[in-house]
Amino acid sequence: MIDVDLLPDGVVLADAEGTVFRVNAAASRMLHRRPEELIGLHISDALPLDDLAGNSWFDCLRPYAGLSTRTRLSESSWHTQDGVEYLVTATLVRDAPRQPVRQLVVSLRTAKARARRDRARSDLVATVAHELRSPLTGVKGFTATLLNNWDRFSDDQRQLMLETVDSDADRLSRLITDLLDAARIDSGRLTLRPQPLDLADATRRILENVAAGSGLKVEVTAEEDLPKVWVDPDRFAQVVTNLVENAQRHGLGVRDVVVRRPTRFSNGVAFEVFDFGPGIPEEIRARMFTRFWRSGDRGGTGLGLYIVKGVVDAHGGEIEVCDGDKGGACVGVWFPENVPDVLR
Ligand SMILES: Nc1ncnc2c1ncn2[C@@H]1O[C@H](COP(=O)(O)OP(=O)(O)OP(=O)(O)O)[C@@H](O)[C@H]1O
Ligand SMILES: [Mg+2]
Repeated sequence: MIDVDLLPDGVVLADAEGTVFRVNAAASRMLHRRPEELIGLHISDALPLDDLAGNSWFDCLRPYAGLSTRTRLSESSWHTQDGVEYLVTATLVRDAPRQPVRQLVVSLRTAKARARRDRARSDLVATVAHELRSPLTGVKGFTATLLNNWDRFSDDQRQLMLETVDSDADRLSRLITDLLDAARIDSGRLTLRPQPLDLADATRRILENVAAGSGLKVEVTAEEDLPKVWVDPDRFAQVVTNLVENAQRHGLGVRDVVVRRPTRFSNGVAFEVFDFGPGIPEEIRARMFTRFWRSGDRGGTGLGLYIVKGVVDAHGGEIEVCDGDKGGACVGVWFPENVPDVLR
């Protein structure tokens, strides 16, 4: 038998007549009255909860009346006199279906956590909408200008505008891919198709693709005879491009990309990107993996490192930020050699 005083939710028990006979510690705290003050009261007086129009929960839900087969009052939101919101659920204990209610068990939960979740969700929607709007504004601006004034522009001008539209559309599509990945990571639904991968080879191939697209040439320093590790090649490409792009954008350029045996772990392979920047201050290191966190005038959406960390975590690996031995920052990830439990 659990001790109801240990429950985080408030619990109030009333008998067949509605007289309160047990109040747990949480309920007493929520109602600002000692249990002995509440015991013996009618439950409608012990729990003075109203909706925003002033209707009492007891009159609205009528736990002792209503359908005689009801065994539960589903969660609904009510307010105390001083305006605090609680989520109320109740069990209607009957000896048999259609018998009168023998006992009423009311549970109260603060609505703060839910309100916080709701707020976080609407903040998220606002952030996402804002992020999507800026590239879309560019697309709309240039297409509208071209449509209305086609004859006034030279071929070169039209070409330039279409190139801008094209790159804004690419940005939008990358943003949407990132948002979907972040949502998958949030809900633990990131799917991996791991296979034994030579990370040094894979890194060279990925960076050749980057070079073909952007002209950025990066050499890879790889240790000999590294073991293969179980990694999803597409997700690894995301890790590589994100970290290299960060070094380029926030760290004044890539100094070195290194693939080697890890120093902190006894197996697996480490992939590290060193840059020429001023390094990453200690207080930022804890925050930089947070969704939408970015800083500096070259900050992007702030999803890159969140996704990298999510991908590395899903592989059972680790990510670390440190100072490069020749100055600048080093962001390194480690993938374990054995198939981690999470991937089995
Ligand atoms: N190598 C680095 N050197 C210095 N600061 C960095 C480095 N990498 C990341 N940061 C800081 O961490 C922040 C978060 O990085 P993250 O990759 O998550 O976002 P972003 O690059 O700004 O945007 P996105 O990757 O979504 O386009 C960056 O805005 C930057 O301030
Ligand atoms: Mg980034």
